[in-house]
Amino acid sequence: MRKEINRLIYVLSVLAIALSTYVIKSYPFRAGLTDVLIFFALALILEAFPVEIPGRQIALSMGFIVSYAGILLFGAPIGILLNGLGSISPEELNFKSHDPRRFIFNRANLMICAGLSGLMYEILKGPSLDFGWRYFLVALSVALIYWFSNVTLLSLAISIDKGRGFIGTWVYYISNISIITYLLHFFLALVIAQSYKLLGPIVMPIYIVPVFIARYLFILASEVSRTYDQAISTLIKLLGVFDSYTSNHSLRVAQLSEDIAREMGLSEVQVERIRNAALLHDLGKIGLPLNILNKPDKLTREEWLQIYRHPIIGADISKEVSRFKEVPLWIRHHHERYNGNGYPDNLKGEEIPLESRIIACADAFDAITTDRPYSRRRGIEEAKAELSRSMGTQLDPKVVSALFRVLEKNSSLYDDNQKIVKEK
Ligand SMILES: [Fe+2]
Ligand SMILES: [Fe+2]
Repeated sequence: MRKEINRLIYVLSVLAIALSTYVIKSYPFRAGLTDVLIFFALALILEAFPVEIPGRQIALSMGFIVSYAGILLFGAPIGILLNGLGSISPEELNFKSHDPRRFIFNRANLMICAGLSGLMYEILKGPSLDFGWRYFLVALSVALIYWFSNVTLLSLAISIDKGRGFIGTWVYYISNISIITYLLHFFLALVIAQSYKLLGPIVMPIYIVPVFIARYLFILASEVSRTYDQAISTLIKLLGVFDSYTSNHSLRVAQLSEDIAREMGLSEVQVERIRNAALLHDLGKIGLPLNILNKPDKLTREEWLQIYRHPIIGADISKEVSRFKEVPLWIRHHHERYNGNGYPDNLKGEEIPLESRIIACADAFDAITTDRPYSRRRGIEEAKAELSRSMGTQLDPKVVSALFRVLEKNSSLYDDNQKIVKEK
């Protein structure tokens, strides 16, 4: 992957330089030195306070608002410089902790986005553009071009870096960096551009207030997701204090379910939900006596009755801690069997949600390949043989086949399944 990502960064850098040179040579700078200094200062201030979207390795910067307002006010060349250079954050310059390739990629990405949207602005605006409907439509198309090219370039880099499908990654980013957020930025940028045009730099400090209010609202929304995710990791840790096997098992099953779901071509949005459900799937075991969970001998009927309740209890708890409304249902059905002999509802075949069938398959593989009080762990080949026998009875054959493909691709990782928790 390293070679491909280097190649991508190289191609994007060449493209960014060519596009910037073309735009800067073709269109005039319509800004004085004071305008440039004010906008650069504002862009750099905002860039120093990015908003992180929890759990998704995405940080949205509000600097886009300034660069975009810059395009509308001063034209494409200033927009490119503001977006490419005004977007440098102090963190990015710390090359000891940040890969310099990321710095180059960000510059190329942002200059291409500003270059394409700036070019669009210059072409659409024609000889003159007064404030009104035409101005609004031109501004909107410029924002949409920016949004589209930014998501596309980010998805391209992530899909190459992580070896994932481009379309799935693109859809994931589209759904996480919502168009509503972009539209909010878009309106703020319009307000900034118009009031700057009318009133000049004197009112510039006032612009910071609505921009920071927008940032604050966005942080509040992000905090909700972060709180949910923290609740889940706290519960997994709590489970670990009570029963370390089940806690580590949950982490491994989450990883494998994620890999199977991706292998089956599910979208990144679905993959994230399945991971969430898999992490919580055995939470209902909290409170079960350890002598039942770790019993080396056969369980009695009463003991089985207690075990049977864990998907129902887990589904109930997950209603409170998962931010996805489907997760409790998937947890409830993770012990259904493909032939209808599972519990708690004896669902059969496709009646069982696909997500539950994926978790069931990852669960079975993990149970076979790890040491339990009642059985020694077995190697991948033995596990595959046993899972093959379960196809169509306990497990969905399509899901088992997907698991086999995952194992082939990641044989070294799953060779010793116990390691995954430590390594991934
Ligand atoms: Fe379970
Ligand atoms: Fe389990």
